[in-house]
Amino acid sequence: MAMEKTLVLVKPDAYQAGHTGDIIKIYENAGLKILAMRLMKMTKEVAAKHYVEHIGRPYYGELESFMTSAPIVAMVLAGEDAIAKVRELNGKTDPKEAAEGTIRKLYAASKGENAVHASDAPESAAREIAIFFNGTEIFE
Ligand code: PPS
Repeated sequence: MAMEKTLVLVKPDAYQAGHTGDIIKIYENAGLKILAMRLMKMTKEVAAKHYVEHIGRPYYGELESFMTSAPIVAMVLAGEDAIAKVRELNGKTDPKEAAEGTIRKLYAASKGENAVHASDAPESAAREIAIFFNGTEIFE
């Protein structure tokens, strides 16, 4: 196991429903450390950078309008095996398939409005952290 950093977004649905604190608590209770955090509104330009692999998919318009609809909370989390650990805590993309106790089982409504995003590999974590935290202090 390696020390890793990962990017997490609390999506507009979870932020607006007031679940940000409960979601952060789940990560901290699992031993993950917050290295940086921002409350921000995603622009279409940032959405296109972050979701570049999804541009052109049938759901992209819906994804873009949802992600730019209200503030999000972006954070860098760190810990042993952080990328896999966060994805396990989040649960499957579709909340209908998410395991009991996972963030998406607890707080998500659908495959699109699914409460949280997390990086899926070290390369995407580095790319995504640069999008949201370029020029911002990361407390390593
Ligand atoms: S993949 O590549 O198809 O396996 O992607 P998947 O993990 O299923 O989903 C990737 C991201 O797209 C979002 N998504 C959607 N948004 C809106 N509407 C629909 N129908 C939809 N389907 C998938 C999904 O929430 C994923 O977002 P992130 O932020 O990566 O979790």
